[in-house]
Amino acid sequence: MIKDKFTKAGFILAAAGSAVGLGNVWKFPYITGDNGGGVFVLVYLLTIVLVGISVFITESYMGYKTGQNSVSAFETLAVNNKKGWKIAGFTFVTALAILSFYVIVIGWILQYIVISLTSLPSSVAEAEQVFMTLLTKDLSSQVFYFLVSFAIIAYTVSRGVKEGIEKMNKVLMPTLILILLGMLFYSMSFDSFSKAFSFLFYPNFEKFHAESILVAVGHAFFTLSIGMAVILTYSSSMDSDTNIVKSSVIVAVLDTVIALMAGLVIFTILFNAGFESSQGAGLVFITLPALFYEFGAVGNILAVSFFIALAFAGITSAISILEPGVRYVEETTTISRVKATYIITAILIVAGLISLLSNIEGYSEALKFGSKSLFDWFDYISSAILLPVGGIITAIFVGFFADQNILKQTMCKFISEKVYGVWLFSIRFIVPFGVGLVMIEKLGLIKF
Ligand code: PFF
Repeated sequence: MIKDKFTKAGFILAAAGSAVGLGNVWKFPYITGDNGGGVFVLVYLLTIVLVGISVFITESYMGYKTGQNSVSAFETLAVNNKKGWKIAGFTFVTALAILSFYVIVIGWILQYIVISLTSLPSSVAEAEQVFMTLLTKDLSSQVFYFLVSFAIIAYTVSRGVKEGIEKMNKVLMPTLILILLGMLFYSMSFDSFSKAFSFLFYPNFEKFHAESILVAVGHAFFTLSIGMAVILTYSSSMDSDTNIVKSSVIVAVLDTVIALMAGLVIFTILFNAGFESSQGAGLVFITLPALFYEFGAVGNILAVSFFIALAFAGITSAISILEPGVRYVEETTTISRVKATYIITAILIVAGLISLLSNIEGYSEALKFGSKSLFDWFDYISSAILLPVGGIITAIFVGFFADQNILKQTMCKFISEKVYGVWLFSIRFIVPFGVGLVMIEKLGLIKF
C-alpha cells in the first residue's frame, strides 16, 4: 500500500494551516492589547525563536524519523522503557479536548458570516446584546453551526492526508492570506494605521507586567500548535526529502507574520473609531462588528471577508487537531480511517454540546464548577496544564531519552553542528525551565 503522504509544499501549507488559527486572529490581538503592545510583541517574538521553533523542530523530528502516529513514535524512539514512554504519545487527547471548544468558536464565526451579510449591529451596546443573546439563549443556532463546522472538519479528515487535508489547505490557506493582504492594504489608507503600527512595534512598558512574559510563552505554544502531537503527526506524513528545519522556520515565520497582519488590521479599525487597544475577548464578536457597521456597505464586505478568513483559519487548525487521534486509532486497531474519524467526532460532539449548554441561561448554574463554566474549564485545563506538559515531555524525551547518535546524525543533515548544539541546549534546558515556569505560575503555585 502506498502511504498517504503530503507533497513538500502540501506539508508546509498544512502545518501553516494548523498554526495559523483562531489564536492568530482572535487571541493574539487582544492579549497584545491587554499586555501593552510593543513590549509584549517583542517578548512573544523572542519566545517563538527561543522556545517555539525548537519544540516545533523536535516534534517534526519525531514524525519524520518514525512515520508513525504519536504513541508508536514515542515507543519506537525510546531507548529504554518503551512501554512507559508510549503514554507520552497520548498528548493528542489534549488536542481533542481543545477541539471540542475550538469548534464551538468556529460555529460562532460561521454565524457571524451570516450576520455580516444581513444585519450588522449598529452600536457596541447592540453588538454586545447580539453576542450575549447568541451565547446564553440561542442554543439551536449554536448547535446548528457547531454541527456544520464539525461536518466539514470530519469529512476532510476522513478523506485522508493528500485527498482531504492537503486539498482543503491548498484552497483555504491562500484565500485566507489574500483576504488578509487585501484588508491590510485597505487599512493602510487610514491615518490610524501608523498608530496601530507604533502600538505593535514600539514598546510601552506601562501595561507590561511579569505575567505578560508567561502569557507570551503560553501563546507561543498554542499558536504554533505544539505540545500535543499535532505537528508530530503531520510530520509523520511528510515527504521523505522535506527539510524539517527549513519547513519549521517557514511555518513559524508565516504564523507570526499573519498574526502581526491581523493585529495591524484590527488595531487600525479600532483606533480609527477612537477605541482603546484593550477590548478583551469580545473584540472580535462585539467591538469589531459594530465598527464594521460604521463603514456602510463597505463594512458588510469587510465584515464578511474578515469572518471568512477567520473561519478558514479555524477550520484548517481544527482539522490538524483531529488528525492525531484518528491516526492513532487507524494505525493501532482494525478500525478504518473513515470510521475512526466519525467515532471520535461523535464523542467530541457530545463533549462540545455539554460545554455549549454550560453557557446557556438556565443550565449554566448546574454546569458551573467553582468559578468557571465547563467551557472555561476545558480551555483552562488544556492550555494551562496539558499543553505545556506535552511540550516539556516531548523536549525532554528527544533531548535525553531518544538515541542521541541517531538524533545528531539526522539533524546534522539539516543544520551545522553549532546550530545543532544550540537547538539541543534549548530543548534540554530552556524549554523545560521556561515552560515549566509558565505552568507553575498559571496553576497559581507562585505569583509574580
Ligand atoms: N495554532 C492554532 C491557533 O493558533 O489557533 C490552535 C491550535 C491548533 C492549537 C492545533 C493546538 C493545536 F494542536
